[in-house]
Amino acid sequence: MAVDSSASTWSQRFEQGLHPAIERFNASIGFDIALLQEDLDGSIAHARMLGQRGVISEAEATELIAGLEQVRAEAAEGRFNPGLEAEDVHFAVERRLIELLGSLGKKLHTGRSRNDQVGTDLRLWLRRQIDAIDVDLLRFQRALLDQAERHADTLIPGYTHLQRAQPLCLAHHLLAYIEMAERDRSRLADVRRRVNLCPLGAAALAGTPVPIDRRATAAELGFEGIYANSLDAVSDRDFAVEFMASASLVLAHLSRLAEEVILWASEEFGFVSLTDRCATGSSLMPQKKNPDVPELVRGKSGRVFGHLMGLLTMIKGLPLAYNKDFQEDKEALFDGVRTLRDCLEAMAILFEEGLEFRPQRLEAAVAADFSNATDVADYLVARGVPFREAYQLVGALVKSCLTEGVLLRELPLERWRQLHPAFEADIAAAIAPRQVVAARRSEGGTGFERVREQLLVARQRLGAAGLTPA
Ligand code: ARG
Repeated sequence: MAVDSSASTWSQRFEQGLHPAIERFNASIGFDIALLQEDLDGSIAHARMLGQRGVISEAEATELIAGLEQVRAEAAEGRFNPGLEAEDVHFAVERRLIELLGSLGKKLHTGRSRNDQVGTDLRLWLRRQIDAIDVDLLRFQRALLDQAERHADTLIPGYTHLQRAQPLCLAHHLLAYIEMAERDRSRLADVRRRVNLCPLGAAALAGTPVPIDRRATAAELGFEGIYANSLDAVSDRDFAVEFMASASLVLAHLSRLAEEVILWASEEFGFVSLTDRCATGSSLMPQKKNPDVPELVRGKSGRVFGHLMGLLTMIKGLPLAYNKDFQEDKEALFDGVRTLRDCLEAMAILFEEGLEFRPQRLEAAVAADFSNATDVADYLVARGVPFREAYQLVGALVKSCLTEGVLLRELPLERWRQLHPAFEADIAAAIAPRQVVAARRSEGGTGFERVREQLLVARQRLGAAGLTPA
């Protein structure tokens, strides 16, 4: 019986080829070719195990492995370019193997299905990416830490509600993002544990009568364990959702930092200047220098959040076990990983060489506001005045300063004494911005000594992770 090429991908049950538009619609080869290395790794482990278990002879296993390595070599030379008719990377590799080895190639798929195969490939791929993302996160942390160490004595206004609240040590502000990135690292390490379980051997959905050794393939591929239930093995995409949720949080952190940089770079704030390395110009307005890098990071975060929703929605109505809907997980993961890694790299470069803090502007900003008002209240509290009473007194004082157009530090001692007899000449020093910051010695606070301790901890952590100062 004559069958055309796409019909022959499947069994002799098919007589006619796919409609060309449906062939295109169905195919994932256009993107899942990204899984080629993992597909070869998985197939090699499977072939070796079949040989060890006597399902095929050891010699056949050796030949299959050599054939698979041949495909790898062809791909490295750009000579492996399967078309749409291959449907997906799994079929593409198997077809080439059969071209190379003849009927022996047809033995590779014994005791295996594309359903457990694709799950294996995807987990191997994601595991590698998570390891690479950890390095990206470390570089980002190092870029922040290098800046933070340079600015261990620099002040910056601290805000709540984007209203001046209390002055901060700039390093303290940057360390907050280092902490977020550290949680991101730990979250991804946790996700990795569940990515690192092997579904191979679940076959289509029910296991296989072939005497396979799932633990041998899992061990060869570096998995920590195997899925206990074959149905769960081929239909679990929790790991993809968990990854995307973690990636979304990384992007949320990057986007918040990006927003701050955009504000800081504005004329109104003037806290940083952008270097030419990371800023762009306007096609019309010659004076402009635009913060495109943080803006793109802020904008791209939405893509990753979208992938998270996409994955959850894709999964939620699926009966057990494999459904073709799962093919949609790949572009989400590929784009999510690419976007995350691009954004981490861009933000690292931004802090490495794309911006410079302006200490004088920062200092001037901190000196010209009422962000030391809490410290006036704290001064009274230290001299026995109940906090709420002190708070009310200082509120009234700020109100009259505002109408008179003077700052707290400009008030003469008589004026303080009128307010409360507990004030002494040392009030001026107590509310100077640098003293206000230094005084916040509570653990985790912005006091300079505390911040230096935190800088040390962060530097040691990077060192332990193998990252030395840039
Ligand atoms: N390309 C498919 C995917 O990405 C591979 C698995 C296909 N399995 C199947 N039974 N059609 O999910």
